[in-house]
Amino acid sequence: MTGSAASAERGARPTDRPGSQDDLRRLARAGLAGASERAPARAHFRALGIDPARLDGPIVGVVSTWTETMPCNLNQRYLAEHVKAAVEAAGGVALAFTTIAVSDNQSQGTPGMRASLVSREVIADSIELMTHAHDFDALVCLVGCDKTVPGALMALARVNKPAVCLYSGPMRAGRWRGREVAIGDVWEAVGAEERGLLSRAELDELERVACPGAGTCAGHFTANTMAVALELLGIAALGDGLIPAAELTEKRAAAGRAGRLAVRLAGDGVTARRFLSRGALLNAMAGIAATGGSTNGLLHLLALAREGGVALELEELAGVGARTPVLASLAPGGRWMAEDFHRAGGTATLVRELVRGGLVDGGAPTVTGDALGDAPAGAPAPDGEVLAPVERPFAAGGALRVLRGSLAPDGAVVKLAGTERRAQRGPARVFESEEACADAVRGGAVRAGDVLVVRYEGPAGGPGMREMLSVTASVVGAGLGESVALVTDGRFSGATRGLMVGHVSPEAARGGPLAIVRDGDPVAIDADAETLELELPAAEIAARLADWRPPALPYADGVFGRYRALVSSASEGAVLRVPPP
Ligand code: FES
Repeated sequence: MTGSAASAERGARPTDRPGSQDDLRRLARAGLAGASERAPARAHFRALGIDPARLDGPIVGVVSTWTETMPCNLNQRYLAEHVKAAVEAAGGVALAFTTIAVSDNQSQGTPGMRASLVSREVIADSIELMTHAHDFDALVCLVGCDKTVPGALMALARVNKPAVCLYSGPMRAGRWRGREVAIGDVWEAVGAEERGLLSRAELDELERVACPGAGTCAGHFTANTMAVALELLGIAALGDGLIPAAELTEKRAAAGRAGRLAVRLAGDGVTARRFLSRGALLNAMAGIAATGGSTNGLLHLLALAREGGVALELEELAGVGARTPVLASLAPGGRWMAEDFHRAGGTATLVRELVRGGLVDGGAPTVTGDALGDAPAGAPAPDGEVLAPVERPFAAGGALRVLRGSLAPDGAVVKLAGTERRAQRGPARVFESEEACADAVRGGAVRAGDVLVVRYEGPAGGPGMREMLSVTASVVGAGLGESVALVTDGRFSGATRGLMVGHVSPEAARGGPLAIVRDGDPVAIDADAETLELELPAAEIAARLADWRPPALPYADGVFGRYRALVSSASEGAVLRVPPP
């Protein structure tokens, strides 16, 4: 079966078919108004203070990923209250619920990071299950930290209900020694302190000021990358997501708009897959590329395509990346933070430039009813500092590249926005885990010219495809960012910079060539040629692969064991596959 055919098959869901399940759902719902057998359900609505007479209006699920474990989603309980009030004022019934969220920052560099990508599936599953159980007519999804955005979108692709998303908004940047700083600076300072380039007192000082309050990471890391994607998809109102979390009045107004929109969409019958079409996903990719966004964006767009039954391959996303110039100068590849981007016109100005350049489809629909190209009419012109006009971009296209070759037959991903280098050839230094590599970097055992190979960190291997910010920041902090490269079947944080190649597929745990690299083997990365080669004779590679046996890997049971058994390749978005009967 081809990838596209498999995608199409996965996209077909029982509720798409005319027949008994949909009919039963409609019957159960109609009965809520007064059928005797639905009296127990009405009794519970009364217990919630909801008069059953109001159930004639749309029932809107208001899902937040609120948690007190991180600042990223901290304002969502507040936002949910304002969404609910708007839903009720518009004649709907709001039923709020929450799902999980994992902090990528707090788990970074620890075994806990394995939970990050897995949480994307749990978020998607939990929203899908709640929608199935409570038969919402529409959803408002409040999202923030990295995996909550794609997790919610994957659920929406499955349930295909009317829906609108609202992003919690970026944190304000910190200030240290006269410049703006974000969490990525703290990670790189750790690397500098390990090498004696920064004192412990200076690191402590930075730690205290880097993250001044609620909101997602202030730089253009994965969360803010996905916030841009949300608005390019059209499933979030243009400009609302990147209002900083601390801007309570503006954010509250955005929550009200989201609530009202959900009620309207329920009435219009406009459902989520309208904003998750192939064209919408390609538009989102253009937004990610134009802002120098995270490599995780490709993984999540592939996952959305698979969940929504859309035929879309890694190369097509890379093609959009190749032709889309960088129009926003955002950290870590550029200079500015998310709040600066928002103030300079944000996604509205960006979209207008992309439409002017013919780089996105301005006729694409959005949840507000405006075409994407019509929505940013009042946005300011690019200031040339934070945002560039499409005729004079900050950099040509190709900030995100897909590499292939003998080391990555199914592809690998590299982000060039944060590095001057395009190529490196060097001896492999092989590590069987992130921790082993981190120890070598911190111990000063890595030399300029090395190509660090970190394997068994893929979707199945880790399991959970950990991000390697701890290692890459140590490399940069140690002053080796422009002389050492890294190749892994794991992922990178959006805060990572340097010549770092991730998502290598097939991964080592599934017998990919990464598994048979040995210390000293010549590895060649060439981003311009889009190649990643293990420079050994083909016969040698074949002989080593024939001898390879899968090693024992951690986490055989529980959620990680199930995940390892079901997860697909990073080149397929690392979605979970339904095993054949
Ligand atoms: Fe949550 Fe960065 S760790 S947004």
